[in-house]
Amino acid sequence: MLFTTLCGLLAVHSAWAQSSTVDAYISTESPLAKAGLLANIGPSGSKSSGALSGIVIASPSNVNPDYLYTWTRDSALVYQTIIDQYTLGLDSTLRGEIDNYVGAQAIIQQVSNPSGTITTGGEPKFNIDETAFTGAWGRPQRDGPALRSNALITWANYLLSEDNTTYVSNTLWPIIQNDLDYVAGNWNQTTFDLWEEVDSSSFFTTAVQHRSLRQGIQLANAIGQTSVVSSWTTQAGNLLCFLQSFWNTAGFITANTGGGRSGKDANTVLASIHTFDAAAGCDALTFQPCSDVALSNLLTYVDAFRSVYSINSGVAESAGVATGRYPEDSYQGGNPWYLTTLAVAEQLYDSLIVWNAQGSLNVTSLSLPFFHLFDSSVAVGTYASSTSTFTTITTGVENYADGFVATVAKYTPSDGELSEQYSKTDGSQLSAVDLTWSYASALTVFDARAGVIPVSWGAKGLSSTCGISTGGDTVAVTFNVDATTVFGGIKHLHLWVCRCPSKLGPEYCFAPKLCGLPHMEHYG
Ligand code: NOJ
Ligand code: NOJ
Repeated sequence: MLFTTLCGLLAVHSAWAQSSTVDAYISTESPLAKAGLLANIGPSGSKSSGALSGIVIASPSNVNPDYLYTWTRDSALVYQTIIDQYTLGLDSTLRGEIDNYVGAQAIIQQVSNPSGTITTGGEPKFNIDETAFTGAWGRPQRDGPALRSNALITWANYLLSEDNTTYVSNTLWPIIQNDLDYVAGNWNQTTFDLWEEVDSSSFFTTAVQHRSLRQGIQLANAIGQTSVVSSWTTQAGNLLCFLQSFWNTAGFITANTGGGRSGKDANTVLASIHTFDAAAGCDALTFQPCSDVALSNLLTYVDAFRSVYSINSGVAESAGVATGRYPEDSYQGGNPWYLTTLAVAEQLYDSLIVWNAQGSLNVTSLSLPFFHLFDSSVAVGTYASSTSTFTTITTGVENYADGFVATVAKYTPSDGELSEQYSKTDGSQLSAVDLTWSYASALTVFDARAGVIPVSWGAKGLSSTCGISTGGDTVAVTFNVDATTVFGGIKHLHLWVCRCPSKLGPEYCFAPKLCGLPHMEHYG
């Protein structure tokens, strides 16, 4: 069924492909990106000498910045790409690499480190010989265990379909369970964000943690490890509720609860593509790529970069531009990043996959400004694929998406190498060379443009029920918050319990803005 849909979309898609520039870029860059990615993985990668088997270096750059380490996040996202390509039948050569990753993570997960032991996980990076990195760093970063388990569960599900249950139960499950017990037990503790800068709660981290528990519950049921199911289900519900609290009524997702910035951040776009589940359609609760919340967020995020990078000046609002981590960024000059620019395109291609599969698209008052980019007269409503509005909009969205890829193409040197950043003034390469994550982001956006659908993780049909009922009229959820609240001025809160009138709905407990300080009780 999935395969039929996939082939159908692939066939349909070549008819909508608009940009020959992008087609040409993809055909040259695809093999270069794959080679660049594999060069950064030990033991035999040509640019990763010293990295042990299955260890992904972030970049071969060892000075300014020194990225010759292995980050749990980067490695997991790189391996999610490799595992998706292998399990979806796109590249049959990658199985040995996957076995190497499993072997490396089984070791690294057990290495005691400055964040603690496995049960207090979240250590962001290790040395490439699998020893602990003991220098000062923004730690813990609690997205790592979730991302690693997402990749390994994708692998486990494939192996189950091949009847390799023994390996899944004996080798993969112990690693996955360690990570997910950590997620279930610590999701409400503060974390450094994926950019390793802000210590608070973070949308990307919460979103990937939520996905990890949902996927983990399905796997646990499939292999009879049912003792974890009840507690993981409770915490997945809490995560889904907490996820809602990042929504800002100005029409975008605020990336972090702390940080003192605008909150407009690639964090949120990356969260949307890394929790894409085509089976969930345009579900807003899980911020699916084509949901009105995620599209409104995308527009707000993209437009925040139009005036901060001079290479974007003069580009029409309906055309793609260079984007970076967040508009206030100054790290290594604060330039656009390849992986963030490509993430925007990927969210849009994911949206096209769903609209074409369901044969319609829906415009709400929230997503209207986004759709106005492509059709200035479109109104709130649902447009079937037989309508000219549907054709106008999907063609416009594809051109817009292609514009982000074309921007990256324009600023990719002829050898196809992708660094971390490219200059905001002239597009030349900056910061770490050969960033493994940049290569992975190219491969995943190319797959999305070709209509490739990653397997479902269970986003469909969830409802937002959460909270620990404390009796008749209140629900309470404990957070260890170490951040400035939305009310300003209050820092380093610990163990807050938010009690809200349950008639407002438990999600209010997860939204300090709505819940309000009078309902917050301070415990220590
Ligand atoms: C290094 C981190 O990797 C990067 O994300 C951060 O922006 C800089 N430190 C500055 O804090
Ligand atoms: C800095 C980035 O901010 C962070 O997300 C990444 O994990 C490291 N560099 C390594 O690539």
